[in-house]
Amino acid sequence: MSPRLRHFTTLEHLPRETLERLLDRAESLRDACAHGTRKINVLAGRTVLNLFFEPSTRTRTSFELAARRLGADVVNFDIGFSSTSKGEELYDTLHTLEAMHLDAIIVRHKQSGTPDELVRHAMSGVSVINAGDGNRAHPTQGLLDALTIRQHRPDFEKLTVAICGDIKHSRVARSDIHALSTLGVKEIRLCGPAALMPATDEFPQARHFDDFDKAIGGVDAIIMLRLQKERMESTDLPDEAAYFNRYGLDRRRLALAGHGCLVMHPGPLNRGIEIASDVADGAQSRILEQVGNGVFVRMAVLDEVLAR
Ligand code: NCD
Repeated sequence: MSPRLRHFTTLEHLPRETLERLLDRAESLRDACAHGTRKINVLAGRTVLNLFFEPSTRTRTSFELAARRLGADVVNFDIGFSSTSKGEELYDTLHTLEAMHLDAIIVRHKQSGTPDELVRHAMSGVSVINAGDGNRAHPTQGLLDALTIRQHRPDFEKLTVAICGDIKHSRVARSDIHALSTLGVKEIRLCGPAALMPATDEFPQARHFDDFDKAIGGVDAIIMLRLQKERMESTDLPDEAAYFNRYGLDRRRLALAGHGCLVMHPGPLNRGIEIASDVADGAQSRILEQVGNGVFVRMAVLDEVLAR
């Protein structure tokens, strides 16, 4: 059996067995909740800190609910857009908070690599969980996307999944690619304008497309990404109407995908820019299921790193 994780900062290089264990655990927690169990007190007496240096609605709330449902106490520490980025201030914050005897720190930060910095500097006994760092990783989102796909299409070896939009700035895309390739998805397609695509050698396992109609032909799932303007150079900023014309997911395009193709998006949505409202709210949309699965995946991760 693969060893239990102490920290959870990226899906890259995690073995398939570990990912499957976390997905199975999330599924069993989901089943327990479906049967009316709302609280499982495996983390009673443990304290979890939400340390968010970037704004977040769903991820933060989802981690908070997950920790509470496992019986842990939760403290929220929002730093928003403060100038704290790296270096002394971050470690001062860390050690101050640690002195309050925390068991886990859930961190979101605009700087890629911050969770691993915290792992290096954290006192022994504190687990670090990444809730999104720069454009590098968002491992619980990668897992919840895999769980959502598995729920409808468990046969990963037969699947083609397209990830479309602003891939270059997307930590979600990176964690999705890590999860889906480790779990054995047959084909991963990446599509977006050249300025928003990753370097071709970053994901040699994926097929790169410029033409969106071709990229989604026959696919089983489409993961649409938000245009992350806050991470773009002004020269990369596309005209929104032109962008929707070439890379927006609307009904005409969805008809090109495979029968019953799953429509996914990590949120927040830019309606009318990367996705049409009738598709986001349509019968094939799994967007709210993703949100629901997020709680169970985060429960599974907290349980993994904190259970005695
Ligand atoms: C994503 C994020 O913050 O990386 N959102 C999320 O976690 N639900 C994606 C995004 O911001 O576009």
